Amino acid sequence: MTGLGVTIFVCVSCRRTLHDGQSYDHPGEELVPALESRLKDAGAGNVTVTPVECLAVCKRPCTVAVTGQEKWGYIIGDLDPEHHAGEVVQAALAYQRSEDGIVPWKDRPPTFRKGVVARMPPRGFTQPESETV
Ligand code: FES
Repeated sequence: MTGLGVTIFVCVSCRRTLHDGQSYDHPGEELVPALESRLKDAGAGNVTVTPVECLAVCKRPCTVAVTGQEKWGYIIGDLDPEHHAGEVVQAALAYQRSEDGIVPWKDRPPTFRKGVVARMPPRGFTQPESETV
């Protein structure tokens, strides 16, 4: 199923505490246009960016979910729109190239390696018997 559309869901509700320790911003609101711009530059028209409210990883702002039809999905946290937009795009394109959504370790940018919170099997997935633990 390589080459089909991929969606990057970006949490726009995540709150990041600012240097004064009291105020906060919503880094996902910056990450959305940063991703859209980079994807456009990369000609990646079949990768969509969709804002969402809360992916239940609120303590690791900001957070994205990368999903695709019949692929494992990933939730990745600890993202900074200023520094990580390029890596998120790189991860999404590697994800898109993958057969089942599981991106080889060598193709994962640092934020993907460090920031993965969870992966979720595609709908209808059953573990092949020879691979069960
Ligand atoms: S507010 Fe962003 S994951 Fe909950």
